[in-house]
Amino acid sequence: MEHAKSLEIWRQAEALIPGGSQTNSKRPGSYAFGAYPIYAARAQGSHIWDVDGNEYIDYVLGLGPISLGYAYPAVDAAIREQLERGIVYGLLSPLEVAVAQALTEVVPCAEMVRFLKSGTEVTSAAARIARAVTGREVIVSQGYHGWHDTWTAGHNDGGVPQALESLLVGFRYNDLPSLERALSSHSGRVAAVILCPTQETAPAPGFLEGVVALARRHGALVIFDEIVSGFRMALGGAQERYGVVPDLACFAKAIANGMPLAAVCGRRDVMEAAERLTISVTYGGEALSLAAARATLQEYRSHDVIGHLWRNGQALMDGMNAAAREAGVPFRVEGHPPMSSMAFTDLPAGQSTIVWQRFLAEMASRGILLRRGGLNFITYSHSAADIDRTVGACRESMRALQVVLDPPLATTLASSRS
Ligand SMILES: Cc1ncc(COP(=O)(O)O)c(C=O)c1O
Repeated sequence: MEHAKSLEIWRQAEALIPGGSQTNSKRPGSYAFGAYPIYAARAQGSHIWDVDGNEYIDYVLGLGPISLGYAYPAVDAAIREQLERGIVYGLLSPLEVAVAQALTEVVPCAEMVRFLKSGTEVTSAAARIARAVTGREVIVSQGYHGWHDTWTAGHNDGGVPQALESLLVGFRYNDLPSLERALSSHSGRVAAVILCPTQETAPAPGFLEGVVALARRHGALVIFDEIVSGFRMALGGAQERYGVVPDLACFAKAIANGMPLAAVCGRRDVMEAAERLTISVTYGGEALSLAAARATLQEYRSHDVIGHLWRNGQALMDGMNAAAREAGVPFRVEGHPPMSSMAFTDLPAGQSTIVWQRFLAEMASRGILLRRGGLNFITYSHSAADIDRTVGACRESMRALQVVLDPPLATTLASSRS
């Protein structure tokens, strides 16, 4: 496959855009540089075309926002219809109320809702609300919640005030004693515990219940970051699937099938604080995204979208795992079928990057786009034929990987590239 046009545009981007991309994890160095497309020209359903005219089945899907499929007719029609009526007004849009109402009907914790534009904004808003409601400042956190100062204080790579560092305390997923230690050592100062309620591995039985109980005991609120799990694990997110309801929850990626919308929602008495806080953006009521969200939620509710994601995701996992097993490659697809993760196990030291690059390149050359480690997202538009083709490509790619994984050859390859 040719990537000449992609590479040509990338060379211009490097001179004009720091890091070349607006999203760190979309930088081409994260994939297989030179053997993987960089720029998209268009996308339809589960397929994407790059600027060099190559076609792929896509499992990266914008890092998660595309859940029904690219250019999904019902959502695009809603966007087009709204476009004729205006994008954003000084007046409010009735869509703000309609989408808030729809969310309260499907998300267990949602009694009130505020809209912002990105995942980072809604997690930051949730932290501000929790701090205001409790009158406390420390946030106990597990996982990535965005790029704002509140969240990057824990791994400050520059530009974040040192003073914030002491206000963010970490704990480990599926490890209640680590949460207990974090809460006890900041007793009386913790405003909220925030975590993604499910990750590559499911929450251990009793873990989420334990998080809520510990937080309650310490007077802290619980925030679920459902930016990835929302509208994928279940219509109402992981909180519905696991039956544990937080005080606040944050949604973004799959809320509007790719349009930029995010929501923080939760208990009425907690959310009401947002009325007096500075949580305000010009584009919160932007109507194209709200129209897309209304249509997207309508599709989720009127078709078995979630069931489709689980069934096709399971077929993908089973097929890829069988392909790896047959080839004797130490590779596993695991986690949740609608958003599975991938791992090479037992790789010789130092081979991880080269093996991943080769795998991504082999799959891309066969028309399949994956991302290192996953998550492998599925849309309602992915068909059984897409999954079959992906599994076939995986079988061939695994055979190609046997060569890389042969230790003497791998060493030769590594040294020839350095
Ligand atoms: C779990 C989680 N929370 C928050 C965010 C931040 O969302 P955004 O990139 O829209 O600001 C992300 C982004 O990937 C995420 O995965």
